[in-house]
Amino acid sequence: MSILNVEHLSHGFGDRAIFDDVSFRLLKGEHIGLIGANGEGKSTFMNIITGKLEPDAGKVEWSKRVRVGYLDQHSVLEPTDTIRDALKKAFSYLFDLEQEMNEYYMKMGDASEDEVTAMLEEVGTIQDILEHNDFYIIDSKVEEAARGLGLADIGLDRKVDELSGGQRTKVLLTKLLLEKPDILLLDEPTNYLDAEHIAWLKRYLTEYENAFILISHDIPFLTEVINLIYNMENLKLDRYSCSYDEFLKIREARKQQIEAAYKRQQQEIADLKDFVARNKARISTRNMAMSRQKKIG
Ligand SMILES: Nc1ncnc2c1ncn2[C@@H]1O[C@H](COP(=O)(O)OP(=O)(O)OP(=O)(O)O)[C@@H](O)[C@H]1O
Ligand SMILES: [Mg+2]
Repeated sequence: MSILNVEHLSHGFGDRAIFDDVSFRLLKGEHIGLIGANGEGKSTFMNIITGKLEPDAGKVEWSKRVRVGYLDQHSVLEPTDTIRDALKKAFSYLFDLEQEMNEYYMKMGDASEDEVTAMLEEVGTIQDILEHNDFYIIDSKVEEAARGLGLADIGLDRKVDELSGGQRTKVLLTKLLLEKPDILLLDEPTNYLDAEHIAWLKRYLTEYENAFILISHDIPFLTEVINLIYNMENLKLDRYSCSYDEFLKIREARKQQIEAAYKRQQQEIADLKDFVARNKARISTRNMAMSRQKKIG
């Protein structure tokens, strides 16, 4: 099932073109590495699919009810929250469901038997969602992730407005991971992490059951967690369903093919020019002879 569909996307800034007629499709559970040289347009692509930037042309279509998680530098944290409060907010949609469930229980007192049956069914569905999404072990989930990314060392009871920029970003990343969105969009997530936390994130992403698109200049990290590559080059986005090493080989082979074809073409042009130069005299004499002949004829 396709979660995201991008068709005929074109975009540029001023007279600098970034994308020319790009199409892209993301399926459930795909772990994508989005790669390309500096300034090719990787972050721009993220901004376009998240709706932050309106493309010049093309369409971006998300399937219904998809939860998208994007690590955005400008996301805000409630300044009076502690780190723990901020992280728990990852589960706010589950707390809302719990509230809804409690309301059903309250109403059951004055309901008819049929109504109670219907309400119990609703309650059952909500229970399933809560259990499936770790609602009853939220505290241990929060602590596990906080340890993994190094927030536990800062202290979960610290207020978020006392934190440095890098520490806040860590809180945002941890919260995002706890939300377990259907698709996670990560632009250079290792920038503010130490080696041990990168190792934790690596394990987390490898085991992530939902989809993600990862931009990272940390190639060893990227290589380990992805199973699909999209390479951005020459205004295009190409899909490679292989490892990073295989991708490099394929790309190298393609480059050599193009170079060889170019050399062949240049050689043919040179040969032709040479032929014309060597036979110029003869050709013009013959042309003259022919036109003379015509005149005579
Ligand atoms: N809002 C903007 N206005 C004008 N030019 C922009 C804007 N945003 C990006 N650009 C330019 O578009 C190009 C692509 O930028 P983008 O940030 O998407 O590249 P990138 O692939 O993410 O690069 P990096 O690997 O360095 O993060 C760059 O040349 C950049 O300077
Ligand atoms: Mg970028």
